[in-house]
Amino acid sequence: MDLGIKGKRAVVCASSRGLGRGCAEALAEAAVDLVLNARGAAALQAAAAEIREAHGVAVTAVAADITSEAGRAAVLEAAGGAADILITNAGGPPPGSWTDWGREDFLKAIDGNMLTPIALMQALVPGMMERGWGRVVNITSKAVKAPIGVLGLSNTARTGLTGFVAGTARQVAHRGVTINNLLPGVHDTARSDALDAGQAEREGLSLAEVRAKREAALPVGRYGTAAEFGAACAFLCSTHAGFIVGQNILIDGGEIATTL
Ligand SMILES: NC(=O)c1ccc[n+]([C@@H]2O[C@H](COP(=O)([O-])OP(=O)(O)OC[C@H]3O[C@@H](n4cnc5c(N)ncnc54)[C@H](OP(=O)(O)O)[C@@H]3O)[C@@H](O)[C@H]2O)c1
Repeated sequence: MDLGIKGKRAVVCASSRGLGRGCAEALAEAAVDLVLNARGAAALQAAAAEIREAHGVAVTAVAADITSEAGRAAVLEAAGGAADILITNAGGPPPGSWTDWGREDFLKAIDGNMLTPIALMQALVPGMMERGWGRVVNITSKAVKAPIGVLGLSNTARTGLTGFVAGTARQVAHRGVTINNLLPGVHDTARSDALDAGQAEREGLSLAEVRAKREAALPVGRYGTAAEFGAACAFLCSTHAGFIVGQNILIDGGEIATTL
């Protein structure tokens, strides 16, 4: 399918690997020029070079912490203050226990996984509205639909973002701008490796045992891939998805069992 977005410009945050990288690859395949971002410069430059080589699109790489004001400013400057497509993403908060988190832990999580995407939308969506077309996809989590006990910081911050999007998406859609959230379930990335390692330690199991247990709990019987996730993201960014507004789309292999 031709996604109809050839030549558009996208900012894809936190994208040197994992789900952000999957989104960047799928957009590049649709001939979208990219501003990529991650903190680690070497991995980011390598990702940028691989994507340029594979898809022949323009790729600008900005090594910066997207959760900092300076990092966001650097990314926005590299984009020339404008983009047609914005994919928000950042590392997730650490696991732990609800009894242990203090004010600073909550502020950090809210800053990274709620206020950062909101600030990026506030910076880029007005220009999209002026030009009459835009797409925003926020990478959130299945935790928004079904809380994950050890990820209470994530549950909290991402639910706040979801509330912001629910209201805002309806205020910008009349100008051709859609905002939606993608809710990943378990995907095969460094993040899931880290969470598996934590579970292995807590439960006294090997990594392979934890993985087998988690895979068995998924109706598809396996972890998702960044490529599958990226393809869904690119569709939401396509010209075909202009009637999909303010949605929270689970990509979880059927894990969260709800009728609706
Ligand atoms: N994978 C899953 O199963 C899953 C499930 C539900 C939700 N999620 C959420 O989806 C998001 C992406 O997860 P993932 O699995 O793709 O993680 P990942 O494989 O660890 O990749 C994270 C990417 O983001 C970059 N990054 C992290 N923090 C950053 C920051 N502050 N500023 C800029 N770049 C940053 C990393 O590069 P640097 O480290 O070099 O910055 C890397 O490129 C996370 O918020 C995660 O919690 C993932």
